[in-house]
Amino acid sequence: METTSEPWGITPSGERVKLFTLSDEITVKISNYGGTIVSIQAPDRSGRMGEVTLGFNTVDGYINSDFYLGATIGRYANRIANGEFYIDGEAYKLAQNNGPNHLHGGIKGYDKVVWDAELLESGLRLSYRSTDMEEGYPGTLEASITFTLREDRLELDYLAVTDNPTVVNLTNHAYFNLAGGGSVLRHRLWIDSDRYSPVGENMIPLGKHDVVEGTPFDFREATEVGGRINDGHVQLERGGGYDHNYVLNQISNPQIRVTEPESGRTLEVSTTMPGVQFYTGNFLDGSDKGRNGPINRRSGLCLETQFFPDSPNQPDFPSTILRPCEKYIEKTVYRFTTES
Ligand code: GLA
Repeated sequence: METTSEPWGITPSGERVKLFTLSDEITVKISNYGGTIVSIQAPDRSGRMGEVTLGFNTVDGYINSDFYLGATIGRYANRIANGEFYIDGEAYKLAQNNGPNHLHGGIKGYDKVVWDAELLESGLRLSYRSTDMEEGYPGTLEASITFTLREDRLELDYLAVTDNPTVVNLTNHAYFNLAGGGSVLRHRLWIDSDRYSPVGENMIPLGKHDVVEGTPFDFREATEVGGRINDGHVQLERGGGYDHNYVLNQISNPQIRVTEPESGRTLEVSTTMPGVQFYTGNFLDGSDKGRNGPINRRSGLCLETQFFPDSPNQPDFPSTILRPCEKYIEKTVYRFTTES
């Protein structure tokens, strides 16, 4: 394992940004701007290294993008209905930056701030302190993510503590494309999940999980991502494709596997979190110019390990409230292998 760091530009407000490179069997580049995974290079079945994420060559690409490429998402990943929630009877109001909803931490979420960085023997720790009422969230939250590279595995250890009750849901928004380009519709996906969270017209979960059995949401056997995406299911119409939370069965390890048949590249995801947002890049529209040209619709897929969307307003979902006496400790591991 080797780590290096280099200067990577300056934000409009004058903060210096760095780019860190972690190398082992895979090579991972991470910036402290947005806690962003900028690049992952992994071998194909013949050992040829190739890029497996969508991203930009410069920090300006990330500063100007609205698509959260590779970013750390917080304080609350995914949607909160109407940008409102209550803790202990107290009402809190957040930005409505996605139709009527709050999305991915607000106007200036964790994806648009500069994190403190500390190089470690086996990786990198990024830390960010968000002050009380930043983006409307109560409590000062001290969050850190430790990125550890071990052979073919990138491990993300999330830690957060607060001085007042708040809500927390941290994730990474990497878009994967194991072919290194083109559409992700031929990737094959397996998710160990029997149930997913159907959404209403505004993409907020309806509150009850539906069984995947007999629907295009069933990935309990490895299936092509694009095989059923256009079959007219009302939930797929709502999301413009897959953009849904899966309830992980939490029995197997890993819980998710994606394979790209041509290269044989395979991504396995394991997490302590109860859910994953499977998103097929439906909103990408070619307006962002990435490292290989326009970033087109469905040219990347996201597996955002998370607590369920809108949990602060959903009494039947696992709680996302963090209190001062508690620690938010979660882990997600991405492992890159090949299929012969
Ligand atoms: C998440 C959401 C999507 C979209 C993307 C970012 O995956 O669920 O609806 O907002 O982030 O474009």
